Amino acid sequence: MSSLRRAERVVVTGGAGFIGTHTVRLLLADGAKVLILDDLRHGCGVPPPPEADFLEVEISTPEALSALIDFRPTAVLHLAAQGGVSRSLRDPAADARNNVVATVALLRAAVDAGLPRVVFASSGGAIYGRATRLPSRESTPPQPLAPYGAAKLAGEGYLGMFQRTFGLPYVALRYGNVYGPHQDGTGEAGLVAISCRRLVVGLAPQVTGDGAQTRDFVYVGDVARANVLALRRSFQGPVNIGTGRPTSVAEVAHRLVRLSGLAVEVEMIAARPGEVVANYLDPSRAARRLGWRAEVDLDTGLSETLRSFRASAG
Ligand SMILES: NC(=O)c1ccc[n+]([C@@H]2O[C@H](COP(=O)([O-])OP(=O)(O)OC[C@H]3O[C@@H](n4cnc5c(N)ncnc54)[C@H](O)[C@@H]3O)[C@@H](O)[C@H]2O)c1
Repeated sequence: MSSLRRAERVVVTGGAGFIGTHTVRLLLADGAKVLILDDLRHGCGVPPPPEADFLEVEISTPEALSALIDFRPTAVLHLAAQGGVSRSLRDPAADARNNVVATVALLRAAVDAGLPRVVFASSGGAIYGRATRLPSRESTPPQPLAPYGAAKLAGEGYLGMFQRTFGLPYVALRYGNVYGPHQDGTGEAGLVAISCRRLVVGLAPQVTGDGAQTRDFVYVGDVARANVLALRRSFQGPVNIGTGRPTSVAEVAHRLVRLSGLAVEVEMIAARPGEVVANYLDPSRAARRLGWRAEVDLDTGLSETLRSFRASAG
């Protein structure tokens, strides 16, 4: 471990969530000091590790912002956000309060904390919308279709402004569809988690429409590694974090059924209005600028996820 690594001090907002839990584990294993800010509105159920400092707090409160400044971070990984495309369509103002206004408050505090590098969790799935050319590159014009994606784009806009005006260094990681152990399978989003949850009780996975819609499914361990690399590299701007491969939702569901060994048939249910038909990401900038590429293949990632859902079901 280098002396530089030993001095690494990272604030992780949303560090008790799905992606945060995996990333905090990696950071701690690598000798970083970590402060988690998370109000547990959607914690993934894994308790924050005792080696990390943890404050159960809403990130835009004075208490959270002073804690960030007092921690003297070398970097901030900003994962806290209210997920859910459908939820954001039902209440766009609530989505903006949590995902835009809280982000702006956090960036202002980062300036006061002495300009640590900020890594922002953006979304390649939600920002590009109905891209006409695939795979989507960072230069593809963003056309979000839901308030959730518009909020991610606004967050990137503020990051650019804070960088130009105050010199706050940043990278915005545009993740594909992240899946893996500890993802919430009880909500409306997260095909893999929802399907695993059904399979462990003997139910067939369900896919919407004809199931041919494609996504870029990227394993959470790979995403956690991308987060850690992004905290340490100097590149600024947006970077796609995906596999570069389109996989249909029906294929994911069929693979999970095969891996489960259950004799069930994937159920086709009504299409969701406005669902994007095809989406996957060009990850070549991540390879060039962060030295990152996805390493976990789909079957390995799906088996690991299914195994963990089975283990937590007892
Ligand atoms: N999971 C994906 O496929 C995916 C894809 C693209 C982008 N992202 C983004 O990555 C980030 C992490 O996603 P995740 O899947 O781990 O979500 P998650 O819901 O599991 O984790 C988010 C965490 O943030 C916390 N939180 C939310 N708002 C907060 C607030 N105002 N104050 C304090 N804590 C707050 C929640 O309690 C939760 O623990 C999010 O910004 C999300 O939008 C996720």
